[in-house]
Amino acid sequence: MRVFTTVENLKTYIKDASKISSTIGFVPTMGALHDGHISLVNKCLNENDIVIVSVFVNPTQFNNAKDLDNYPRTLEVDIELLKKSSKNIIVFAPTAKNLYKGQPESINYDFGGLENEMEGKFRPGHFDGVGTVLKFLFEAVTPTKAYFGEKDFQQLQIVRKLVKLEKFPIEIVGCEIFREAHGLAYSSRNERLTKQQRQEAKIIYETLLNVKNQFGTKSVTELNEMVSQVFEDQELFELEYFEIANLKNLETATYIKSHEKYRAFIAVFADDVRLIDNIALN
Ligand code: PAJ
Repeated sequence: MRVFTTVENLKTYIKDASKISSTIGFVPTMGALHDGHISLVNKCLNENDIVIVSVFVNPTQFNNAKDLDNYPRTLEVDIELLKKSSKNIIVFAPTAKNLYKGQPESINYDFGGLENEMEGKFRPGHFDGVGTVLKFLFEAVTPTKAYFGEKDFQQLQIVRKLVKLEKFPIEIVGCEIFREAHGLAYSSRNERLTKQQRQEAKIIYETLLNVKNQFGTKSVTELNEMVSQVFEDQELFELEYFEIANLKNLETATYIKSHEKYRAFIAVFADDVRLIDNIALN
């Protein structure tokens, strides 16, 4: 297992390795790896000669200092987990100073309005941070294909926009949400839930499935009210937002046009742990 901690060493390795191998697959992560991440890594291993997984807790995408401090950092355990998929995986775990070539600062991006919806409203500056770190990571790794989960669907759409804006010749591959047996989407933050919260968090996916089942028979307003009611009756979880958005631009839908595609998005707090999920509706 090779682990690189500087851009320079990684680049030297890639320069040599790409003389004999043709495709580089890349899975960017913030570590605390779980089966959701591993599903992306396995897909990447199936489709590429060289596989690079980055583990980097990116300071510029956290709008809340406490969330950044609390974010789990478990590099040794992450490496052991990756080894189970393949010992040929290259791990890239730089310091912030090395990756950002100095003090970490965000670039201001115009993602055509995508950045102002949902997560963008509740986490100001978040997508500038994501865009900036991915720009640096893509420049260091020079991947052929990069893999992102639909778990962070808005992020996936932003990344598609980023590669167009920056003219990176990278294919962005979207990967299905990987869920725990009872339906909760895997997340590094699930480890911070109590046993009871983790068990009962299945309500999030159950609610999304209910919305999907009733989509087309109930109006958007009725569906919004239904979800608000579910969480008003819940003691363990507090709803931050629920919305149905148009797939094309992620704008909030107030009514449904028959020829358009929609997705439902949700963010919920269990104490100070923030959980997000989403589902395709049609
Ligand atoms: P992180 O939250 O570690 O997630 C890394 C990748 O794993 C993302 O593409 C995310 O969508 C995907 N992922 C997480 N949980 C998943 C699940 N249950 N099913 C499928 N995919 C899942 O997202 C980030 O890190 C960062 O913003 C990053 C892109 C690395 C930039 O810092």
